[in-house]
Amino acid sequence: MHDQDLVKSNPWSIKEGSFPTDGNIEEKLKFLLRYAILAPSSHNTQPWKFSLDNNTVKIFIDRDRWLKVADSDRRELHISIGCALENLIVAANHFGYRCDVDYLPESEKKYPAVSVTFQGSNSQPQSSSNGLFEAIRGRHTNHNVYEAKPIGEENLEKLQNINKGKEIRLHLTDDPEVKRKVDSLMTKGDAMQFADPEWREELGYWMGQGVFGTSWLTSKMSQLAVTYLNMGKSTAKKDSELLLSAPVLGVISSRSDGREARIKAGQTFERLALTAASLNISLHPMSQILEITELKSEVAKLIPVSDVYSQQTFRLGYAEPEKKHTPRRPLEEVLV
Ligand SMILES: Cc1cc2nc3c(=O)[nH]c(=O)nc-3n(C[C@H](O)[C@H](O)[C@H](O)COP(=O)(O)O)c2cc1C
Repeated sequence: MHDQDLVKSNPWSIKEGSFPTDGNIEEKLKFLLRYAILAPSSHNTQPWKFSLDNNTVKIFIDRDRWLKVADSDRRELHISIGCALENLIVAANHFGYRCDVDYLPESEKKYPAVSVTFQGSNSQPQSSSNGLFEAIRGRHTNHNVYEAKPIGEENLEKLQNINKGKEIRLHLTDDPEVKRKVDSLMTKGDAMQFADPEWREELGYWMGQGVFGTSWLTSKMSQLAVTYLNMGKSTAKKDSELLLSAPVLGVISSRSDGREARIKAGQTFERLALTAASLNISLHPMSQILEITELKSEVAKLIPVSDVYSQQTFRLGYAEPEKKHTPRRPLEEVLV
């Protein structure tokens, strides 16, 4: 199969060496966008669209892919957009581009959320010392039980010190008391979500689309099971095991709570995920406690700073690697 067809059928097969050094700006930006679409997103909805205009990329939010029940306040929708934006910037920097990012005001639905202008590159890959570019293809959400191995001081510091900007905070903790409280909130969250037929139907719909990389038959069976059975108890038990196995829990928060702050929180989340991947540390976002208003306010009480909005909760640790990537829509499907 020709390189380009391979990348269309499996977006994860993109290779650094295929950068179109002698191509025009459109070909180069398209190549960089192939890294943007490898970003994580809630339920792997990939709620993004992109347009190209000279040296500018505009990122649009695809509202048809918004999780209206699980993510009623659109927090995760915007975080997912931030993840794709961060991948784009990391890839662009790797190929020598400087990016000017404009966060656009929230107005009519059809307008873009972000505009990125690319400046000056000799198209020569930079010898990346931080490993973030390489980590775009290496990153997975790791759903396994984590090992009883602490994250050492040096690596914790690297994670804590990622570039966050002024708006965003990152709080990491290994405090067993905090873990216990989060565990109890999560057990409540799982019970509340599974008791809601609309929530189950929405999750079932996405599972049925094969977003988690399962075969057609397994996807359809999972859809039926999730939609018609209340698996709250068994899910809570499994989630509790996952959570308590992790040596470190974390939350990303922001000083304000508009679209821009959430997109920036998403960028920080992805930067953290890439940094963790570059250190062979696994990461798993666990969002249910922020998807339920009553529980979200309890999470805020666990953060040792005031006047911040919780944006993303997750666990970190060491684990058996995930075996395969979740599927991605090809770039051709998300270019407008
Ligand atoms: C904003 C956001 C919220 C997420 N919440 C959860 C979650 O609550 N539980 C979970 O297992 N995965 C969660 N994920 C991970 C996605 O399911 C995952 O990114 C997607 O399936 C793609 O897989 P990958 O990250 O391995 O590429 C979340 C991801 C994002 C970006």
